[in-house]
Amino acid sequence: MQRITPEAARDIAANPFKSSFPLLAANPDLAFLDSAATAQRPRCVIDEQARFYETLNANALRGLYDLSVRATEAIEAARAKVARHIGAPDSREVVVCRNASEALNIAARSFAGEILRAGDEVCVTTMEHHSNLVPWQRICRETGAKLVFLNCDAEGRITSEEMDAKIGPATRIVAAAHVSNVLGVENPVAEMAKRVHEYGGYMIVDGAQSVPHLDIDVEALGCDFFAFSAHKAYGPFGIGFLWGKMALLESAAPFLTGGEMVESVAFDSAVWAPVPEKFEAGTQDGAGIHAAGIAIDYLESIGSAAVRSRESALVSAAADMLSQLGFVDIVGPADARCRHGLISFNVRGVHPHDVASILDAHHVAIRAGYHCAQPLLDSLGIGACCRASFSFYNDESDIAALERGLAAVERMFHG
Ligand code: ALA
Repeated sequence: MQRITPEAARDIAANPFKSSFPLLAANPDLAFLDSAATAQRPRCVIDEQARFYETLNANALRGLYDLSVRATEAIEAARAKVARHIGAPDSREVVVCRNASEALNIAARSFAGEILRAGDEVCVTTMEHHSNLVPWQRICRETGAKLVFLNCDAEGRITSEEMDAKIGPATRIVAAAHVSNVLGVENPVAEMAKRVHEYGGYMIVDGAQSVPHLDIDVEALGCDFFAFSAHKAYGPFGIGFLWGKMALLESAAPFLTGGEMVESVAFDSAVWAPVPEKFEAGTQDGAGIHAAGIAIDYLESIGSAAVRSRESALVSAAADMLSQLGFVDIVGPADARCRHGLISFNVRGVHPHDVASILDAHHVAIRAGYHCAQPLLDSLGIGACCRASFSFYNDESDIAALERGLAAVERMFHG
């Protein structure tokens, strides 16, 4: 059990953030504890997305007139913010796509699909979200490469011994979640990267659950590709990013072809545009990309230290509350300090879907089920679980609502 400090308790008792989020402000009774699935959006992001349509709307990259040039500039400004935010040395290395799944599919198909040969190995962890597992299953089937698993223990730890045993001369790719969407743990991706690079392979990181919570520096992580979506980081739906090292992006073959991604086209051939346009076929969602950049400005205006200290106080307080209930089993690390933004659990003898429904009746929104990580839950032998996930816009009243809702679940089932 982690008792939080009096300062941390004071911090999460106050809430200067909810008023910036229209949906939360309009629903003061809602305890929204599903930010790992998608975050609420602040007013500035919603307004700026509309402002793009009101003041900048034109198809970018066909910029022969002022409005189109300004739309293009807005997109490139957002790309530059993303690059700066994740420590990318060159904004041209940031490919814009629809979501983290698409970003990981580009890494798997466009890059790995070109280099994998029969007998090569692709190493993933057992805690991957389906979006960083299924593309690798498929690319391995197609190339004859072998999928190898880095096992974690029940606390979500992947040991040095496990990495030494699984990452070796045959490993061409290691693909791992930076932060698990079920266990909340941060994986040792820098150590994985170091090992796979020693064997001449590549490190691909799924940052969907880390970008909202942690400072990201792709160079310090030592990865070759880093994928994430905007909607979990306070930006709009439908926008994802793939950062990759320039030389690797240049060597990769796009899997979506068509307009905007070509330099020149003849009746029987085409020459790809340079990176990143090569991977950005079709008209882009200029308004969404612009709003994703505004979301980064917003997150940076709060500051990563404030985000981290508040979210870690929330998770510790929630873990403390859950561990005192006596009818709840926590899934994953016992030490709440190992978790970033979420805590998974089960109410003994009650299916997680029933828990979520009863909590919903008490205005508490959580996610329940497999969390798109079915193999992990199967390997933990728990089938499914509930997950409460937090943002800095939550406060102690949300944890109190969760506690009241869980007491109602227990009364209803075990009276
Ligand atoms: N990947 C999202 C989650 O973990 C949807 O909930």
